[in-house]
Amino acid sequence: MVKNTVPSTDLQRSDNTPTAFGMSRCRAPNDTIAAMLFPRLISPEVAHSFLRILWSDVINQRVPTQTHRQELLKRDAIEIHGKNYAPLMALHWGLTTAVEQRTGKELLPSFAFFRLYFEGDVCRVHADRPACEVSASLTLAYSDERPWVLSIASTPATDGLGVTEDFGGEPFESFLTAPGDAVLYSGSHYRHGRPTPNSNRWSAHIFLQWVSRGGPYEADAFERLELGERPVGGPTI
Ligand SMILES: [Fe+2]
Repeated sequence: MVKNTVPSTDLQRSDNTPTAFGMSRCRAPNDTIAAMLFPRLISPEVAHSFLRILWSDVINQRVPTQTHRQELLKRDAIEIHGKNYAPLMALHWGLTTAVEQRTGKELLPSFAFFRLYFEGDVCRVHADRPACEVSASLTLAYSDERPWVLSIASTPATDGLGVTEDFGGEPFESFLTAPGDAVLYSGSHYRHGRPTPNSNRWSAHIFLQWVSRGGPYEADAFERLELGERPVGGPTI
């Protein structure tokens, strides 16, 4: 296989892939979830099949993609946003109940995106905007079955830290995920990142974001989604 090629057929999970080496649950002010592992948020088979379908849609130009680097990444990554890809939006909305049950919070989806990272990529340490009150980082696949560490600060973010190469003196916990596993955390309250370079030729991930129903960021629910006018003669919603 050529380096930095995109997903093909080698998407199977290794049976001896570790699922986690860190697992914690702590809370920021206002009872926000910090970080916890959610093994098998979806099954490895669903993760595998979802990526196969998504990538088929990419190579057949049935879904718009965009590249992302900005200040968080060292190299361009490929992204697909849920508002442009109905299967991703459906997965996001459909997983809401499972994440509500695990976090004990009533949630509304804000936005979701797919990202394909390449070898050597990092994701610098950062905190996200309020629409990321509850986040799930869901792993779909690693090209070379090398789980890539996601690290999350153990204490709430403070103002002024911005984007950094690593956690510096901040305490943090690290998680390893197999395909189908997710890490739940509060992206807006806790800094997080992948400062260790990706050792796979590529890895595929989905990021799902929610806000609390009735919470201070509820207005960010269904972000940038054009719901349109109520259909004439349609259901009264
Ligand atoms: Fe983030």
